[in-house]
Amino acid sequence: MKLLLLFTCVVFLNCILGIQGQDKPKKHVVCYFSSWTVYRPGNGKFDVENVDPSLCTHINFAFVGLKEDGSVNVLDSWQADKDGLNGINRLLELRNVKKDLKILVSMGGWNEGSEVYSKVAANETTRKILANNVLKFIEERGFDGFDLDWEYPGLRGGNETTDKDNFTALLKELSEVLKSRGLLLTTAVAGAVEKIDVSYDVAEVSKVVDMINVMVFDYHGSFDNFVGHVSPLYPAKIDFNFPDNETYNVDTALQHWLNKGADPQKINLGIVLYGRSFTLADKTNTSLYAPIIEGGKEGPFSRQSGILGYNEICAFHNNGTYVWDDEQKVPHRIYDEDQWVGFEDERSVQHKVDYALKNNLGGIMVWSLDYDDFRGTCGEKYPLLTTINKALNLL
Ligand SMILES: *[C@@H]1O[C@H](CO)[C@@H](O)[C@H](O)[C@H]1NC(C)=O
Ligand SMILES: *[C@@H]1O[C@H](CO)[C@@H](O)[C@H](O)[C@H]1NC(C)=O
Ligand SMILES: *[C@@H]1O[C@H](CO)[C@@H](O)[C@H](O)[C@H]1NC(C)=O
Ligand SMILES: *[C@@H]1O[C@H](CO)[C@@H](O)[C@H](O)[C@H]1NC(C)=O
Ligand SMILES: *[C@@H]1O[C@H](CO)[C@@H](O)[C@H](O)[C@H]1NC(C)=O
Ligand SMILES: *[C@@H]1O[C@H](CO)[C@@H](O)[C@H](O)[C@H]1NC(C)=O
Repeated sequence: MKLLLLFTCVVFLNCILGIQGQDKPKKHVVCYFSSWTVYRPGNGKFDVENVDPSLCTHINFAFVGLKEDGSVNVLDSWQADKDGLNGINRLLELRNVKKDLKILVSMGGWNEGSEVYSKVAANETTRKILANNVLKFIEERGFDGFDLDWEYPGLRGGNETTDKDNFTALLKELSEVLKSRGLLLTTAVAGAVEKIDVSYDVAEVSKVVDMINVMVFDYHGSFDNFVGHVSPLYPAKIDFNFPDNETYNVDTALQHWLNKGADPQKINLGIVLYGRSFTLADKTNTSLYAPIIEGGKEGPFSRQSGILGYNEICAFHNNGTYVWDDEQKVPHRIYDEDQWVGFEDERSVQHKVDYALKNNLGGIMVWSLDYDDFRGTCGEKYPLLTTINKALNLL
């Protein structure tokens, strides 16, 4: 009897909360799962078993590729398929422990470039072929939707005059086949003003897709020849001394998306769980725009100069000097004398989530699960993703 009462109460409460919640839909946490992290050594190794599904509303499998004939290219069939590690099926099984979790497959990414996408999107026939191949792939495998991560229409080998419209046309084609079957369509898009203008018909894109994952990061890194933060929330005063650098931050980019007509509820603010690092040219000059020699020293897990996961930063560089940039609302650390890394921590992530809430955005996207302290080496497991979920009232 008591149990029944409790049950009724819970249902009733849910009803009330559900009705009240209509104005305030549940926020999204879109988590990218990168398939290649299973090959990382030691504690860096990240596989499906390391995912905590309670911290994501959506998981995007990254990545599949695209062939010129419009077919889906499974890039690492050893990781993905039954004959190998069976990664896709094991990922999809996470829905057994969290019923409302949505798992999408993401096509594209930085390494895929733009050329093939440009070609396929420019031809009505191949657009239709691609859309149908995507549908077939999703239905055969059992995904809940599709995420297009073309980096970027009109850039990096794409066609600057035609890609913008053809990207919209491709999304419409995809939408026609996916939405009628209740499958999700999302896209990951650029977060730099000059790229947004070249690549997207913002208002049209926003109409067609369910979610827009805005990559408001990689504003600075060892591809520059000076120090800067990977993802400042706001510009620093000094940014205005360098042409257009005052646009290289989360706020400017997201306001650009919104001003051009994107539906805020469809926008997910992208947060990177890695930092970008530098080797300083002069260890006494650690300020923004200080000259660098090259990327920072590679970490034992990510094994790439200029990149460090939060799990590497907290485990190996916690004794460096911590600096909070109060203009940009982000931290960096200086360690081993000449190493500078700009990254996200609980504090900066909280600022970004507050920003998303204040602007009525749909939620947060993170790239990617494997860079958080997912083993809890430095404290609680998944400190950054947990902070995001708490700040969005999801935990
Ligand atoms: C479009 O693609 C189809 C199928 O590959 C091909 O037969 C046709 O020639 C292409 N059209 C153009 C204009 O390239
Ligand atoms: C872009 O596409 C247009 C129309 O098909 C074509 O005339 C132009 O040469 C293309 N530009 C490049 C750089 O490929
Ligand atoms: C691709 O975009 C260009 C420029 O808007 C347009 O002329 C062309 O018709 C588009 N291609 C297709 C197949 O729709
Ligand atoms: C930022 O400033 C640097 C240094 O002057 C310059 O090389 C770079 O092109 C600027 N960034 C943008 C987006 O214009
Ligand atoms: C650091 O480097 C920047 C860029 O070269 C320069 O403008 C600044 O004066 C330097 N600061 C110090 C303390 O050397
Ligand atoms: C910081 O920690 C690293 C790794 O634990 C160690 O190699 C280094 O010597 C330490 N540096 C300082 C200044 O304590």
